[in-house]
Amino acid sequence: MPAGLKAAPGTAGSMSDQSTFDTDVWTLTRFVTETGRQAKGATGELTQLLNAMMTAIKAISSAVRKAGLAHLQGMAGCVNVTGDDVKKLDVLSNDLVVNMLKASYSTCCMVSEEDKGLIVTPKDKRGKYVVCFDPLDGSSNIDCLASIGTIFAIYKRVTEGEPTEEDALQPGSNMVCAGYALYGSATLVALSTGAGLHFFMLDPAVGEFILTERNVTIKPRGKIYSLNEGYAKYFHPSVNHYIDHKKNPEDGGAPYGARYVGSMVSDVHRTIAYGGIFMYPANQKSPEGKLRLLYECNPIAFLVEQAGGVATTGTQRVLDVRPRALHQRVPFVVGSPDDVNEYLAFVNKYQ
Ligand code: AHM
Ligand code: MG
Repeated sequence: MPAGLKAAPGTAGSMSDQSTFDTDVWTLTRFVTETGRQAKGATGELTQLLNAMMTAIKAISSAVRKAGLAHLQGMAGCVNVTGDDVKKLDVLSNDLVVNMLKASYSTCCMVSEEDKGLIVTPKDKRGKYVVCFDPLDGSSNIDCLASIGTIFAIYKRVTEGEPTEEDALQPGSNMVCAGYALYGSATLVALSTGAGLHFFMLDPAVGEFILTERNVTIKPRGKIYSLNEGYAKYFHPSVNHYIDHKKNPEDGGAPYGARYVGSMVSDVHRTIAYGGIFMYPANQKSPEGKLRLLYECNPIAFLVEQAGGVATTGTQRVLDVRPRALHQRVPFVVGSPDDVNEYLAFVNKYQ
């Protein structure tokens, strides 16, 4: 192997002589299979589930890339359960995830942002897992070609017999696996089965997700704050005080930069990559915030915690919230530990 082409241990395999072609790559499937092998009592069902989810994600990625050409931009002509306008790509992405997961023989029920009730897997195809997902997050960004994503959380069922909402209304701390796909300038999957956060990039030529970063960690403090500051008029004074402190630090330090895509997966991925804080706090118009606990906040909180970050509602750890309803919203603040803890100190000053 030529000098300089040595693969990083545990990220890429060996490269054949005189080429940069990796002949021993760590695909996502290989990674999950290997980690599953090490887990006691593993049956391969989670690997099966993740394979199905990756098929759906690859298909969504392909649809996103050609939406403008394939007449997939625009509205589907309806609103979903939480009142958002539904886009054609929302419908297609939802159908893909539901159909692939049902056909994986690994799920018993699911919750989707796009479906009001619990989605129950047909009896003959049932397995032990429950999946809560947002098939296409940030879909208001589809038509302007900004990055969007898919988010999912996986639990083991807790009931016997017919699956019920109780299976889905588990606290995030019960989660066994979570991930998001980011359809950005490249397609990336961030995944954790509870032993660190790992990044996989889609190699479009091979059609596989390849491990590119193992055990990702978030910086203790960043230099970027990220929220929809247009709602300042409706924020609690503690939120505005915190933001003002980021712009005009009382200690004379440098102000933070501001970034806001309006697609949580993009904003969170940047926050993990560069450090900082992402916030969707409550405001007078949305007293519970906007983001949904089961399929947006919980999986992101799990992944960020796996990277050493913090996720809070402002009053409690997100993963400790006891869900009451499938589409429940919670205020959401997530990111570098020092940044989020500093925000909490501002919240506490006002109590
Ligand atoms: P969606 O699931 O309907 O796409 O809405 C969720 C998105 C998040 O990705 C993003 O953080 C937020 O909505 C942006 O909301 P706002 O336009 O109020 O800033
Ligand atoms: Mg969403």
